[in-house]
Amino acid sequence: MLEGKTVNLRIVEKEDLPLLTEWLNNPEFSGEFMWFPQQQSRAEREKEYDNLPPDTKQFFIEKKDGTKIGWMGHFLLGSLLEIFYYLLPSERGKGYGTEAAIIMVDYLFLSKDLERIQAKADPENIASCKALEKAGFKREGILRKTFFCRGKWKDDCMFSILREEWKEPKILTRTT
Ligand SMILES: CC(C)(COP(=O)(O)OP(=O)(O)OC[C@H]1O[C@@H](n2cnc3c(N)ncnc32)[C@H](O)[C@@H]1OP(=O)(O)O)[C@@H](O)C(=O)NCCC(=O)NCCS
Repeated sequence: MLEGKTVNLRIVEKEDLPLLTEWLNNPEFSGEFMWFPQQQSRAEREKEYDNLPPDTKQFFIEKKDGTKIGWMGHFLLGSLLEIFYYLLPSERGKGYGTEAAIIMVDYLFLSKDLERIQAKADPENIASCKALEKAGFKREGILRKTFFCRGKWKDDCMFSILREEWKEPKILTRTT
């Protein structure tokens, strides 16, 4: 488990898939700036889980009392590592997304020989853009019409943080 100040990141286990399937099938969970979810059965999600590509990991964002409040992870896009994050609607706007992004960046730069971590967000998704910037990501530019969101093709903003900009862990210690 990756321990933060107000939240922890805990790896998603197979037995968590019913809860995750329920969240991911709910359009309110993906939020107005992300895709309208294509419905998946537990069996489909289990199959996907069993065949996750290398360097793809999924975590729950948990409060300190163990309550699961969000989902986040990383995956490889070509040779570049990208992160994503989602919180339950009732837990948004309380700083948890920013802290989770900082923990993930610390973890990835501490555990992997990476020069860069990237993330994409709809430029209209102010919470996501701001949380990434507060976690040290910089805006690189707009990718035009890259994702299909609720019936429309939308632009994405590419963000990245380089190891030299990160410098040192902000939340995770070097020893844990
Ligand atoms: C994106 C998300 C993970 C961000 O996490 P969060 O905990 O809500 O964000 P934070 O509370 O850390 O806020 C980060 C900044 O955005 C601001 N913010 C938060 N919600 C906002 C909103 N609805 N509108 C405008 N600004 C907002 C905060 O005030 C803060 O800025 P500040 O420090 O200058 O005040 C979360 O909102 C979410 O799950 N959204 C739906 C799914 C999604 O869009 N995921 C991202 C896919 S790229």
